[in-house]
Amino acid sequence: MAATVAERIRLRVDRFHSDRLAGQWGGRHMLHGRAPRYGDIVVSGNDYLALTADPRITHAIRTALRSTYVGRFASGAYLPGNHPQVVLERALAEHMRAPAGILCQSGWDAKVGLMQSIADPATPVYIDQFAHMSLWDGAKVTGAPIYSFRHNFPGHLREQIRAHGPGIIAVDAIYGSNGSRSPLTQICDVADETDSVLVVDESHALGTDGPAGAGMVAALGLTERVPYRIASLAKAFGGRAGFIGANTVDFVDYFKLESHPAVFSSTLLPHDIAGLAATLDVIRLDNWRRQRLRELSTMVRRALTTLEFDLEGSASHIVALQGGPDARAMAIRDFLEARGIFGALLCPPATARDHTLIRFGLHAGLSEQHVDRIISACSEIRTHFGATPPVEPLSRPKHAQPTHATSSSGT
Ligand SMILES: Cc1ncc(COP(=O)(O)O)c(C=O)c1O
Repeated sequence: MAATVAERIRLRVDRFHSDRLAGQWGGRHMLHGRAPRYGDIVVSGNDYLALTADPRITHAIRTALRSTYVGRFASGAYLPGNHPQVVLERALAEHMRAPAGILCQSGWDAKVGLMQSIADPATPVYIDQFAHMSLWDGAKVTGAPIYSFRHNFPGHLREQIRAHGPGIIAVDAIYGSNGSRSPLTQICDVADETDSVLVVDESHALGTDGPAGAGMVAALGLTERVPYRIASLAKAFGGRAGFIGANTVDFVDYFKLESHPAVFSSTLLPHDIAGLAATLDVIRLDNWRRQRLRELSTMVRRALTTLEFDLEGSASHIVALQGGPDARAMAIRDFLEARGIFGALLCPPATARDHTLIRFGLHAGLSEQHVDRIISACSEIRTHFGATPPVEPLSRPKHAQPTHATSSSGT
């Protein structure tokens, strides 16, 4: 007799526990290492500018929480033009040098909502193989044909468009798993040549890159060539929101009544808005944080490259060691934690199988001593585990699955 629906679901849950938790991970949850203690170096997050607990931001949040203003707990479409959320939308858009902007409840909602409101079954969507899962899921719900192209390979993108027709191209400015940067100018060239529409995810570049942290598109002078920019504000902005920068003002009202996450989910709270507005001011002002982040990231990347780690093209504040199979990655994580260094493990489905990464999200609060400790721990890793996993590097699939989207564990 065929299994019932409930039995099939039970089988999937059981398989996760027996294959992964009990099997590959030996009964210990892979993502749960030890808790950091005072003096440890925590590079497991995305607070790239080290703004957590900045008094200018916490003061704004506390003040908003104490105010008598009550959030509407409804769709953002209801908010009038003078509402602090709408005012912040304009300020963020201006910051990114975009004509218009929309705040969303999260980066996920911004991206799924955007794809849902611009893609359709007749329009192919081309997604960099390593781009974040939200782009894939957003495109999928529209019924659009989806084609992946080789990571950071505009030539392959062009080939795919020649084969399947003009469409929507989606890339990350900086890839959250390995810190590589998209060749945005060349991707823009392909978009222009083929009459396609480009979407750039600035989640890991907004705040850290560009003039006053305006992002990579602004840094490269491409604002007029990229119609849609999106960002999670849970990275350098340290908040709980997402943002879309659009090149036409009339897109805003269209999105707010066409994108399902915008219509069918309640909007942000007043203290979220107050915190993000204060963060924007700090990000604009504190250039030294970006400068510091650039310097120390260069130091770490140079040292690890000299130690022969393959950093998969990292050119930013995100640096990942190749953990290989889960068991090896866990052993390296434990080894690092024993030395007081806390990175983040990115495992399937955020990476391909046997391609778990140990990711360092470097931040402006690290001192020279911290950087030295990270480098010397990596040097020990090389001695104990080798710089690369003892398996053949994966051949990247040409079409199809997101093998390497950013972490489901919080990046
Ligand atoms: C590139 C990218 N886009 C979107 C998201 C999702 O953002 P949020 O956590 O704000 O939903 C993330 C976070 O994992 C990300 O790294």
